[in-house]
Amino acid sequence: MKIAIVQSFPIYADSQRNVTTICKMIESIQADLIVFPELATSGYFFTDKNSLSPHALTWNESPELSTFQELSTQKDADIIIGFPEKEGNVMYNAAGIFMPNKHDSKVYRKTHLFYKEHEVFEEGNSGFFCVHDSKRDCTIGIMICYDWRFPEAARTLALQGADLIVCPSNLVTTLSGKVFPARAIENKVYVAVANRIGEESLGDESLLFRGESAIYDYAGERLAQASFGNEEIIYAEIDPKSTRNKSFNSVNDIFKDRRSSFYRWNEKC
Ligand code: ACM
Repeated sequence: MKIAIVQSFPIYADSQRNVTTICKMIESIQADLIVFPELATSGYFFTDKNSLSPHALTWNESPELSTFQELSTQKDADIIIGFPEKEGNVMYNAAGIFMPNKHDSKVYRKTHLFYKEHEVFEEGNSGFFCVHDSKRDCTIGIMICYDWRFPEAARTLALQGADLIVCPSNLVTTLSGKVFPARAIENKVYVAVANRIGEESLGDESLLFRGESAIYDYAGERLAQASFGNEEIIYAEIDPKSTRNKSFNSVNDIFKDRRSSFYRWNEKC
């Protein structure tokens, strides 16, 4: 299975242009799975709901999302794209998972909100879930950016059967680069991170998005790595079935060896 990670530079508050660019890129990429960054249609640094709202899209209604769906079907590729989602008066930091068969497509709403995202988004209520690409026999789990700080996110997806965890991101730290390989090793899954580049300023505050998107195998080795600060597409071939045997010697199996009755604590301690 060939995966493509797009390290893009979304133009702030120009969703029309961003959607056009995304569509052109999808048309030019040959891969089974194509992943774009978090909020790739809108840009990131919104702190005012009225400014973000015109860029928010509604699942099963917005023509932009129908176009992504059509491209997925036409190209017979799974496509994952971060976008601001609107449901009634509420907005979520979301990622659309467009599968060739529309009925398999789903939207993930970011569980853990970062920093000033709290001012415009509600905390996601979709929970963590996987989708299954039956043609490529690959189970794909999805989380978004700051979800990386919570090992429970990747663990939940892995226990649900993920072979590959994808993480559309707008990362501003290098720390995550140390953590993603660990999530890959401890869960024996592939991990693919699509981070954006560029800088966005609001008032006297600016955020620098680092790029450095990467694809890791289940031993935490980098299969592909994008640069700091350049638009780029990186590719890797993965073998989803190879993640499923969680034993690493004749005795130990990282899932069967779990002793979840001991993974409890008293919140008051
Ligand atoms: C982030 O969650 N965008 C850092």
